[in-house]
Amino acid sequence: MHHKLVLRLAIVVIVAVSAASAAASEGTVFTDESCRQSEALVFYRIKLVTSWSKKLFPKHYPEFRPPPHWSMTFGQTHNDSFRLFEMKQPASVSVATFAETGQVGSLEDSLAQQQDVLFDEFRLPKIRKGKGESEATFFVDGPHPSVSFMTKIVPSPDWFVGLDSFSLCSRGRWMEKVTVPLHPLDAGTSSGLTFTSPKWPTNPRGVIERITARYPLHFASSFFYPEIKHLPPIAHVTFTKIKEYSNRNNVHKKVKKLKHKQRTKLLKRLSQETERRAEANAEAIQGLNAVRDESVTGSDCRVTAWSPWSPCSKTCGLGKQNRSRSVLQIQRAGGRECPPLIETQWCGSARQCSVIDNYFRW
Ligand SMILES: *[C@@H]1O[C@H](CO)[C@@H](O)[C@H](O)[C@H]1NC(C)=O
Ligand SMILES: *[C@@H]1O[C@H](CO)[C@@H](O)[C@H](O)[C@H]1NC(C)=O
Repeated sequence: MHHKLVLRLAIVVIVAVSAASAAASEGTVFTDESCRQSEALVFYRIKLVTSWSKKLFPKHYPEFRPPPHWSMTFGQTHNDSFRLFEMKQPASVSVATFAETGQVGSLEDSLAQQQDVLFDEFRLPKIRKGKGESEATFFVDGPHPSVSFMTKIVPSPDWFVGLDSFSLCSRGRWMEKVTVPLHPLDAGTSSGLTFTSPKWPTNPRGVIERITARYPLHFASSFFYPEIKHLPPIAHVTFTKIKEYSNRNNVHKKVKKLKHKQRTKLLKRLSQETERRAEANAEAIQGLNAVRDESVTGSDCRVTAWSPWSPCSKTCGLGKQNRSRSVLQIQRAGGRECPPLIETQWCGSARQCSVIDNYFRW
C-alpha cells in the first residue's frame, strides 16, 4: 500500500512538470473569467435534501398509493451552449417525458446527440419518501463550469424540481459551498392541478412555470395556499467543492475511485480535449514560426511536428502515453523560446480489463 502510493505520487509529479509549466508561468490573475480559463478540473458533491412533508404542505398531501417520493435525479455538467430547460419556454420532448414519467431514457438519447457541449453526467438515487436526501459527485472544468439537473416530484402530473445552467465559477473562483432553495416547477405538458390528478395533455403545450402559492390561480391546485405569501422551498440543493486539480493530469488517482461508467466517459473526454488543445497549440506555434521566419530581427525556436502518440503503457486500466517533438532551431536575439517538447496524457480504459476490481481497488 505504502509502496504503491509513493510510486504513484512520483508519476504525478513528472507529468505535472511537463504539462503545467506553461499555465503556471502566466501567473494568477483573478478576473471574472479566471476559473473558466483555467486548466483546472474540479470535483463537486451534489446533495439534494427534500422537505415535502404533511406539515409544510398539508393540502392534498398524498397519504398512499403512491406515497410522496422523488424520482432519481438526472444531472449533467456543460458549457454555456446547453440548456436543460428554460423558464417560460416550452420543455423539450425529453424533459417533458422525464417530468411526466421520471424515465431518463429519452433524455439520455437526446443528450447523446450533443456530446460536444457536455462534460460529466451524474445521477442521484431516488428518494423514497417526501423528506429525505440523496447525493452524487461530478466534475466541471473551465470550459464547462455549469451544472443542470432535474428530479420529478412523484406523484404529480409533470412537476419537478431542478436547476438549469447554474455556474459553479463565480467571480473568478470555483465556489466552495453553495445551497440553493428549490421550488416546484410545472413542465407545462400535462393539465392536472393536483398531485394525483389523471394526466391529459395540455393543448397547446404550455411553458415551464414555477408553481407558487398563487400559481396556478385555482383553488383546486395542490400548491394553492391563498393565506400565505410564499411557499416554503420544497427542497434544497447543496454543491460542495471536494477537490480542485490544478493540473488535469493529477486526476489519475481520483478517477480510479469513480464508478465505472462515469470514469470511462470522463477519461475519454479528457483525452479528446488534451489532444484538441495540443493540436491548436501546435498549429499556432507553426503559424507563428512561419511568420517570424521572414523577419530579419532575431528568430524563434523552431520545432518539428509532434510524433504520433506512443502506445499506451497499460493494456488494462489507466496508463500513460506521450508524444514528443524536437528542436529544429534554437531561438536567437529575442525570438520566442522553445515550447514544451514532450506531452503526456492518460489512455486506456477499464473496459479492457478482465478483472476490473483488482486494478481499481487500492
Ligand atoms: C460549447 O462547446 C462547443 C463545442 O466545443 C463550442 O462549439 C461552443 O462554442 C461552446 N459554447 C460556448 C458558449 O463556449
Ligand atoms: C513515453 O512512453 C513510452 C511508452 O509508454 C515510454 O516507454 C517512455 O519511457 C515514455 N517517455 C517519457 C519521456 O515519458
